Amino acid sequence: MAEHTSKKFYELSLEERQASIMEQAGLTEEEARALFGQGGISPEQADHMIENAVGLFGLPLGIAQNFVVNGRDVLVPMAIEEPSVVAGASFMARLARTGGGFIAHTTAPEMIGQMQILDVAEPASARLAILEKRAELLQMAGEIDPVLNKLGGGARDIEVRIFDQSPVGPFLVLHLIYDVRDAMGANAVNTAMERLAPRIEQITGGRVHLRILSNLAVRRLARARCTIRLEALAFGEFGAERVRDGIIAAWAFAAVDAYRAATHNKGIMNGIDAVVIATGNDWRAVEAGAHAYAARNGTYTSLSTWGKDREGNLTGTLELPMAVGTVGGATRVHPAARAALKLMGVRSAAELAEIIVSVGLAQNLAALRALATEGIQRGHMGLHARQVAIAAGASGELVEKLAQKLVAEKTVRIDRAQEILKEWSA
Ligand code: MEV
Repeated sequence: MAEHTSKKFYELSLEERQASIMEQAGLTEEEARALFGQGGISPEQADHMIENAVGLFGLPLGIAQNFVVNGRDVLVPMAIEEPSVVAGASFMARLARTGGGFIAHTTAPEMIGQMQILDVAEPASARLAILEKRAELLQMAGEIDPVLNKLGGGARDIEVRIFDQSPVGPFLVLHLIYDVRDAMGANAVNTAMERLAPRIEQITGGRVHLRILSNLAVRRLARARCTIRLEALAFGEFGAERVRDGIIAAWAFAAVDAYRAATHNKGIMNGIDAVVIATGNDWRAVEAGAHAYAARNGTYTSLSTWGKDREGNLTGTLELPMAVGTVGGATRVHPAARAALKLMGVRSAAELAEIIVSVGLAQNLAALRALATEGIQRGHMGLHARQVAIAAGASGELVEKLAQKLVAEKTVRIDRAQEILKEWSA
């Protein structure tokens, strides 16, 4: 360690980074193998996870630096194939440090289970008949998972909605609100819904059709905010106020236009998904929840907000559903996911959600700052130029030297790279 402590993390070699992370997080040899190896699981383990397994599919795993969430320094594992994402998050986390890092919190981990009830003779009366039995139904649901109850979770409430009109006529929808504690919750909720169904048919005289969790987890939100000190925003030819106002105007575009909001939110999900995947969680569930939440008022809009405080500092917020767990599912059976959770030092799903939403906000800032100033391509160019240099035949130290020349010339093309290589070897 001693000889590379003066270097920045990204300046270290792959092996030095691994050694540094192992030491910082106190990983065992086995955990380090899971995290730094070929994806953390064997084909045999994959065979127990999904059907028709034939192998594994790898993704790069990077560690975002500089994150302070609720006053705690945290290393953030990110599994992602896209260049610039890990660097962008790390850099913005460094800017956010100037204002104290990210402040994040979550609501109770309450998921919603849905039950569709067809063929009800009189929907309004059937709705009340269900609500009259609320206590009994909650008790029934509560008996299903005694472990969850012991941990302080369990069934919390029943809601019933009426859809008067649909392509198949009117029907009722029951919502079971279920506190799933540190689980993602799909299994607990789906089991509860299936158990309640026969009793609901007795009560309503209707026919229960679908019984399934909703991914629009509006009762399980994660929220983060940050303040970037105005002076930290200036760089190169760009003054701090220009950068700040540019970021706010870029956000305003996403706030009013769905075409832009989709891309803006995609940038947020670049950060969120990478951590959700690295921790073995269901990123499709988080994606579905995020985009449905972005459209909750009938118009698709930005998940984040950006503004300025009284001192002129840049302020940002992000709020979205965050159905992630630290127990059950792949989070427990996938050795790399387990090691990733240890690396982050999280003790609960809420703490994990707080870090994830902070990364989403940092990622959003990285994109907006680049778009509002020098454009997004410049950041991508370094890595792209290195790939072009290798493709042109450079190796060893020549890769970096050639890449730098291509970027300086603003001509990152393979024909030019080959030409330069020829000149250098002449
Ligand atoms: C690219 O993966 C993400 C961005 O398009 C996000 C954005 O436009 O805000 C850069």
